[in-house]
Amino acid sequence: MNIGIDKIGFFAPHLYVETEDLAIKRGVEPEKFTIGIGQEKMAVAPASQDAVTLAANAAASILTEEDKQAIDYVIFATETGVDHSKAASTYIHDLLGLPPYTRAVEMKQACYSATAGLQAARGHIALNPDSKVLVVASDISRYGLNTAGEITQGAGAVAFVVAKDPKILSIEPTSVYKTEEAMDFWRPLYSETAFVQGKFSVDQYINFFLDLLDRYNEKTNRSLKDFDALLFHLPYTKMGLKALRKSVEAADTEDQERLLSGFDISKYYNAIVGNIYTGSLYLSLVSLLENSQTLKAGDRIGLFSYGSGSVGEFFTGVLVPGYEKHLNTDYHTAMLKKRTALSVEEYEQIFEEKLPVGEKDYTVDTTKDPAPFVFTGVTEHMRQYKRQA
Ligand code: CAA
Repeated sequence: MNIGIDKIGFFAPHLYVETEDLAIKRGVEPEKFTIGIGQEKMAVAPASQDAVTLAANAAASILTEEDKQAIDYVIFATETGVDHSKAASTYIHDLLGLPPYTRAVEMKQACYSATAGLQAARGHIALNPDSKVLVVASDISRYGLNTAGEITQGAGAVAFVVAKDPKILSIEPTSVYKTEEAMDFWRPLYSETAFVQGKFSVDQYINFFLDLLDRYNEKTNRSLKDFDALLFHLPYTKMGLKALRKSVEAADTEDQERLLSGFDISKYYNAIVGNIYTGSLYLSLVSLLENSQTLKAGDRIGLFSYGSGSVGEFFTGVLVPGYEKHLNTDYHTAMLKKRTALSVEEYEQIFEEKLPVGEKDYTVDTTKDPAPFVFTGVTEHMRQYKRQA
């Protein structure tokens, strides 16, 4: 049975900061951020957006009533959870009006967990071929003002539907994965910002990729020639480029050119949204599918998923005939075009705005947020959400 991605879309909040402006304010050459790191704009989440609303906004943009009736499993991948106990999926199950006889869970393993979600969804569809699974990957990436990681922040969510006879990408059965305990990036329960050993995290990521690519090729008897494109988890776009360059060092010029030009297209949305942790690899997939002029049905795409701590996986998908008719390109282009640029001071103010942690009641101003779903505050320690458009 062919199982894979039937629909896919993403959502980014309506605010962003230009990385050139940030570089000037931080006393750094703008090219370090735009070329050295490879980020142009960084999405900023207002207080009225959290991981739940970002996910609901992404999912609502792709789901029809027919999809909703077929969904019986919601998998919410995040490392920006809003509750230690209650899964964020329960909120979006309600906000999206999904059927009651649905399983709903949250998954966590840094930036990797949406891939765990995809693989769990494949297993579920193999056992329940007529159902559909909604996987959402939603995060707000926060390292802190004036830190080395600041330029690798962002906010957004990707949502995709996994089904049999998928309309976009059929996932191939073989995948390779690996776990290795490492403190390269983590966020303790008491911290609003991530801790990171930056250089170590970069090495760890590259080593995982090269090891898993070799293992996959050994297992399948394939080589770089068999991939029409390679996609990466992109905490910042230069990260994927560094890994790709290492893997093609000894390849033919033709393979190098094909894979490097595909990568260039796959990083387009990531460069103007920023790091969305769990969703980054899948944002790169959307970017490639919606912006490539050369991809065609039958092309094989390799996907590298990495979550610090560390778990990685390399797997592949094959494009389905007519996939281009099932993309949401116009919606994404319009959403990104309508965003508002913040000054660095405005971004800093939003970043430092502390929501009253532990208070049983508070409200959040939602009037300036054009998103369909917003977080409105807390009542009796219960988070409140509404659909406003
Ligand atoms: N023009 C062009 N390029 C320039 C430049 C200029 N004027 N000035 C500097 N650069 C280049 C540097 O040469 C360097 O390039 P290479 O990587 O090719 O060597 C690049 O800009 C970055 O410069 P530095 O290494 O000096 O940057 P830094 O010390 O400020 O730190 C970082 C970079 C380690 C990525 C830091 O931003 C960080 O800690 N980020 C968070 C961690 C992270 O994203 N790690 C990725 C792997 S972990 C993961 O994937 C999980 C996740 O999502 C967090």
